[in-house]
Amino acid sequence: MIAVDGLHVDLDGNAVLHDVELAVPPGRIVGLVGPNGAGKSTLLRTIAGLHRPSRGRVLLAGRPVHARKPQELARDVAYLPQDIALPFPFTAYQVTLMGRHPHLGRFARESAADHRTAQRAMAATGTAHLAGRSVATLSGGERQLVLLAKALAQDAPVLLADEPVSALDLRHQLDVLRLLRGCAGAGRTVLVVLHDLNLAARYCTELALLSGGRVIACGPPATVLTPDHLATAYGVGAVVRPDDVTGSLTVTALENP
Ligand SMILES: Nc1ncnc2c1ncn2[C@@H]1O[C@H](COP(=O)(O)OP(=O)(O)O)[C@@H](O)[C@H]1O
Ligand SMILES: [Mg+2]
Repeated sequence: MIAVDGLHVDLDGNAVLHDVELAVPPGRIVGLVGPNGAGKSTLLRTIAGLHRPSRGRVLLAGRPVHARKPQELARDVAYLPQDIALPFPFTAYQVTLMGRHPHLGRFARESAADHRTAQRAMAATGTAHLAGRSVATLSGGERQLVLLAKALAQDAPVLLADEPVSALDLRHQLDVLRLLRGCAGAGRTVLVVLHDLNLAARYCTELALLSGGRVIACGPPATVLTPDHLATAYGVGAVVRPDDVTGSLTVTALENP
């Protein structure tokens, strides 16, 4: 369970997040949406323990994130970053297996069970065929899937994913979102940043709309994706209606509102 309570975050003297409140119970997949620069990545990174709040706090399962040791925190939170540069030419399998590191003792090697978990994560993300490839040679989308495999191999109850489908083709977008929804269905707490509001409405149980560092709406997609909220956040007029095929909401932004 993620609980964000009166959170303010300043980065290099800029106030980036203001008084953010957010609760994500286990078994939910919540979509974090909002315009570029709204603070979505900063919020995810703060929940992952990578930025320190200037005020307020983040609790995971009732315990403050910022009082915890990194390895212990990594057993509870898997974080899939937006920036997917990998500096060293590890193979896709080695990268996935790194997801097991928080579970290893000091200087311990991975067990057969760790290898099985990594292999399952690669199978689940459709990356098994990339196992022996250097991640430096993968396409952006392939690398994104391998980093998702690493995050799944971490086997943490909380999963944070920052734009995990931004580099993916149509089929892989649906595969990844179905996988994340399945993680929530299996009891994990999933918070995912998405730019595509239609996919967000289709796959998430709730949405949180961030604009200018504040949560301006939070709840089921129908209460968040209103023309008023979209005008405030994105500065566009929009038509919101149910999709003929999926029944979930679709947003059409208007050029001349
Ligand atoms: N290290 C930093 N120092 C100062 N400002 C930052 C830093 N990182 C991000 N910002 C600013 O914080 C705001 C939110 O950034 P970010 O969380 O990356 O937005 P989003 O992910 O919603 O696009 C932006 O205006 C960005 O320029
Ligand atoms: Mg971002």
